[in-house]
Amino acid sequence: MYVNVAVLKEKQPNEGRVALVPSLVPKLTKLGARLHMETGAADAIRVPAAAYGDVVFMDDRTAMVADADVVLCVQPPALAVVDAMKPGSILICFVYAANEPELVKRMLARGITCFAMERIPRISRAQAMDALSSQSALAGYYAVALGMTHMTRVLPKITSAAGVIGPAKALVMGLGVAGLEAVATVHRLGAVVEGYDVRPETREQALSLGATFVDTGVDATGKGGYARALTAEEKTKVDAALTKHIQASDLIVTTAAIPGKASPKLISKAQVAGMKSGAVIVDLSAEGGGNCEMTQPGETIRVGDVTIVAPLNVPSLLGTDASELYAKNQFNLLALMLKDNVITIDWSDEILAKTALTHDGKLCDTPKQAKAA
Ligand code: NAI
Repeated sequence: MYVNVAVLKEKQPNEGRVALVPSLVPKLTKLGARLHMETGAADAIRVPAAAYGDVVFMDDRTAMVADADVVLCVQPPALAVVDAMKPGSILICFVYAANEPELVKRMLARGITCFAMERIPRISRAQAMDALSSQSALAGYYAVALGMTHMTRVLPKITSAAGVIGPAKALVMGLGVAGLEAVATVHRLGAVVEGYDVRPETREQALSLGATFVDTGVDATGKGGYARALTAEEKTKVDAALTKHIQASDLIVTTAAIPGKASPKLISKAQVAGMKSGAVIVDLSAEGGGNCEMTQPGETIRVGDVTIVAPLNVPSLLGTDASELYAKNQFNLLALMLKDNVITIDWSDEILAKTALTHDGKLCDTPKQAKAA
């Protein structure tokens, strides 16, 4: 006996990741998986099929999926994939169910057991499976790199015979996983960095990474370690406290998010107008509409002498490392169910119970996360 696992080629434009990397092939095989990949699935990370060893590459994704006990991918698959899957088989990927009503309907109709990667609980035991964290950390790092390429000045202090330059001032707004990685990166590169968040517990985390903390006196800690939206009164107080920090910065990275809601606006048009000439904002919350009022998701724009960079699907720009981490996250989740050549789902396991989105024709519970639209 063995468990047939199928890995899809990602079809969304600009998706640079794949759900299986060569290092995991022997590990999955040892657990009892027989691996299939759609031809070209690893092209995005520039890994040849030969590197995948025993994996069988197939041109016909419908046939591959129809025979699979488990389907792995990164983005929600096309409806045709779900329609071709065996009733009762397992799908593991990011779903964001609130944005995918038709896909969820088809999974329910077909009795698919879907584990949605964004639903992995934020508990210690699940950290090795937490794809939101692994991908956000890469995005936080890359935001700094993107910002640097648009700046017309250096981050660190540079001393030359002609004089001394810098260091630049950076401000990171939103100190979750991505924000803290941005703080660590920009600090390593020599900038003077400030961090800001509405959860006061982030103060110590920012300090430990070399930032100073901008304390606005507002605590908007919400449920489950996430933030809540600010009241109008809190927003006024925060804006007044933040303006001088925003306007003193050469580089700002924003990452603020509130689960299921549009990105909170942290930087207004008026604040941008008062920013330093040549300053750069990298808005990592573009997918949810952006943290800056002027952000145009997916675009890099100039507003006066300020550049606002608002990339989408940032982890996919680092496809090789993002795939490595994502595939390991998925492997660790799959390893909870795949043992001795069979799949056994222990529904008393909190990680499996909370990550499941659909099972046996039923919705598992109300999705806790919706990617803000
Ligand atoms: P996220 O992507 O939901 O939000 C990013 C940051 O934006 C958060 O720190 C949030 O407080 C902040 N934010 C929201 N509104 C804001 C505003 N108006 N102004 C400034 N900042 C604002 O956060 P992420 O990275 O998903 O982390 C969420 C929580 O989960 C955190 O408490 C984190 O420590 C926790 N976590 C726990 C893990 C575990 O225990 N296994 C793993 C990863 C995260």
